[in-house]
Amino acid sequence: MGATQPSPDAIEAAAALLRAGRLVAFPTETVYGLGADATNGEAVARIFAAKGRPRFNPLIVHVADLEAATAIAEIGPVARRLADAFWPGPLTLVLPRRPHTALSHLVTAGLETVAVRVPSHPIASALLRATGRPLAAPSANRSGHVSTTTAAHVATDLGASVAMILDAGPAQYGVESTILDATGRELRLLRPGAVPSEAIAAVVGYTPALFSAANPERPSAPGQFESHYAPRAGVRLDASHARPGEALLAFGPRVPPHDGHTINLSPSGDLIEAAANLFSALRELDRSGSPGIAVMTIPEHGLGMAINDRLRRAAAPRPADPPFDQGSRCS
Ligand code: TXA
Ligand code: MG
Repeated sequence: MGATQPSPDAIEAAAALLRAGRLVAFPTETVYGLGADATNGEAVARIFAAKGRPRFNPLIVHVADLEAATAIAEIGPVARRLADAFWPGPLTLVLPRRPHTALSHLVTAGLETVAVRVPSHPIASALLRATGRPLAAPSANRSGHVSTTTAAHVATDLGASVAMILDAGPAQYGVESTILDATGRELRLLRPGAVPSEAIAAVVGYTPALFSAANPERPSAPGQFESHYAPRAGVRLDASHARPGEALLAFGPRVPPHDGHTINLSPSGDLIEAAANLFSALRELDRSGSPGIAVMTIPEHGLGMAINDRLRRAAAPRPADPPFDQGSRCS
């Protein structure tokens, strides 16, 4: 065992901090994770702020067991076999997200899928049970740095931004979990990791193809491997006001008058709150049926950079889109 094992009191204290929306670094069998309550958007936003991530990527959601996984994701027969074989352990499954869960939309970056993992490390398990909530946890390092495998590395990298670090000595594997996309007809390997492909093949009868976003092979089902949520409505940035018919995505205390649907990401101008609300706001404005979304200027600092990165991509023309909608296509 490692040099230190957190006491039950330390785990209770960590769980209380997590439930209060704070960040706690904890050991897993792969690498140390930077944990936040996955049902609390502002807590999840703090992960991105602490990591200095330039972008909002979807995060892995850690749960205590299969039952807790079933509460947030739809687990089909193949996923179930993989879960039975490898959970608890270093396998992450990307699964359809259940429609009505308490999960924040920031944790899945607005996607309809969720990456779920049940860690086997006893401290991670104990923390999940004590917290009673799913925990978002990317590797506990600053963006661009390598994953951390000891508490000392976490302290050096993230120090002041975490409320507590649970130290259980060096991580066992030292590489991240294997990520499998189990949302399509065939499994895809999104990230090679601690569970080797041979072990997966032994369970499912074939070796999942490595999916590289840089080289997407013929997308059999469009959108199946989309790693980014984009609203259907056109997005217009740096808008001083919304035009007739547009919905308004506002920010800060001074909002131009508008008759149409308006959502303010943060009336007080708080970028953490704005980040927490970004994806659910885009979804809601999209559902309102407006053909366009006018977005007020969001400051380009702190999490504003990640918010603007997402909004710029949502506003960009989408080369993958078919030129016409299905209705106007000749068959
Ligand atoms: O070993 C691990 O998995 C560690 C420990 C702490 O559990 N966690 C970790 O998380 O490596 P993170 O956030 O650094 O890696 C998450 C990866 C990203 O590459 C992200 O794109 C992918 O998982 N991911 C998360 N949700 C996804 C989704 N819905 N669809 C596709 N990829 C997803
Ligand atoms: Mg990482």
